Amino acid sequence: MTMKEKIQQLKVQFDQEISKILDPTALAGLEIKYLGRKAGQLTKILRSLKDIPEKERREIGQLANSVKQEIESKLKAVRKSISGRARNEEWLDVTLPGEPMPEGHLHLVTQAIGEIVEIFEAIGFSRRRYPEVEWDYYAFESLNMPPEHPARDEWETFFIDSKPVGPKGQRVLTPHTSSGQVREMERKKPPIRMMNISKCYRRQIDVSHLPMFHQFEGLLIDKNVTIAHLKGTLDYFVKQFFGPARKARIRPSHFQFTEPSFEVDVSCGLCNGRGCKMCKGGWLELGGAGMVHPNVLKAGKVDPKKYSGLAFGWGVERSYLMKAGLSIPDIRLLYGNDLRFLNQF
Ligand code: PHE
Repeated sequence: MTMKEKIQQLKVQFDQEISKILDPTALAGLEIKYLGRKAGQLTKILRSLKDIPEKERREIGQLANSVKQEIESKLKAVRKSISGRARNEEWLDVTLPGEPMPEGHLHLVTQAIGEIVEIFEAIGFSRRRYPEVEWDYYAFESLNMPPEHPARDEWETFFIDSKPVGPKGQRVLTPHTSSGQVREMERKKPPIRMMNISKCYRRQIDVSHLPMFHQFEGLLIDKNVTIAHLKGTLDYFVKQFFGPARKARIRPSHFQFTEPSFEVDVSCGLCNGRGCKMCKGGWLELGGAGMVHPNVLKAGKVDPKKYSGLAFGWGVERSYLMKAGLSIPDIRLLYGNDLRFLNQF
């Protein structure tokens, strides 16, 4: 190897070694290894320059000196950055990967509402929102439940501490979205295809009930509307929302504002209607439905001789929890704001 090659190789070697240096002791060792007065590798080369033939000496001397300068300036730069780090000074490593921004998403109840709206919009229902602080009249009286009617007990209602105002009565936190039925008839003449999705309030709390929850209510009023239309609408929704394998069934029930009235069930998504630990009999209860009672149509100034209607009203949270493959043991988790839970959706 010629002298020139030796010097060049030394420089490459130095560059490799200095790139691994992390602390001042190692740096001092490196300095001695290359520039040490007695046995530094470069020092030795510089010292041997005098033995080189005169005509090569100039060129090699220049190379050796420039390498020396380079080594010195690199040692200096690294010394500075290491001592900064040691003293906890701020320093910037532009090669460090950045921290990813946390990415949020819509709350799962908002997601569910979005899905429900889309499903019903496809068959011509449009979304409305009616007040959460509601008159007794729309929540009960116009729905065929006059004051003191025992059927009111079912809606464990929060009353607002205020004086009754004329025929509209007292103010309540609406306990169901059916309060939007007569409001919609007052807003618009039939045909009506409304979806009222909003917050509802009841005096209840346990693993499957919340004092605040969401309901979505469908109301369809037109000429010649029958139970077949109701069943068709339920079947359509159940297949779209829960999946094509799920089925809907209706059972006789009672509501003051529908006649006849039904309870709607959905086949269990875990056992496909065969019956399992989750559902017992193979079916899960979704909520109420029925044909709009003539007294309710009359309250909305719709002639029950000309028009008939169907209505249904279910809990959003409840419906969401009934989707296949979801096992959420406690409905209160939805509003606990625990990110470990929410991040899963
Ligand atoms: N409002 C009823 C409830 O809260 C559900 C319902 C809506 C029943 C529409 C019939 C028709 O349980």
